[in-house]
Amino acid sequence: MKIDFILNRKDVKVDCPPEKRLIDVIREDFKLMMTKNSCYRGECGSCIVQIEGAPVPACQVPIFSIRNKQILTIEGFSGTEKYLDIITAFKEANCMPCPFCFAGKVFSVDSLIDGRRSPSTTEIMSLLSEHPCECTPTSRFIEGVKIAYQNREIRGELLK
Ligand code: FES
Ligand code: FES
Repeated sequence: MKIDFILNRKDVKVDCPPEKRLIDVIREDFKLMMTKNSCYRGECGSCIVQIEGAPVPACQVPIFSIRNKQILTIEGFSGTEKYLDIITAFKEANCMPCPFCFAGKVFSVDSLIDGRRSPSTTEIMSLLSEHPCECTPTSRFIEGVKIAYQNREIRGELLK
């Protein structure tokens, strides 16, 4: 089956079985390897991409369902101001994610802080529970998300 969609702001086409998962299309057909595949059950968050602006685990998405939709992977998100809000905050708080959880955490944090009021500690801990990680202290991650929010607020992109 031929499927047209928009990947990282470019019109693309893929020809594959309709049930092939988006994560496999991204990695195998487009060689975008920063989106990781691990559990294939929608539980680890390592395969998250944005579909029409919302974070979604790509391992749960059959390719036929994304016809004509906008997909943004971490490669397409990197370098944007929104991406830099988060990355500079992670550096400052010393909680930079490893390659395994990087895309998922960045997209989840982006969704949490975008266009809203400051996230609470409870909300941040809830987000973290969706990204199993034993290598980063929770307190540093909470600080990183709060700095990311401040960075976005300074750029005037948030509600007052
Ligand atoms: S590989 Fe998709 S959530 Fe784990
Ligand atoms: S920093 Fe990636 S799993 Fe802990």
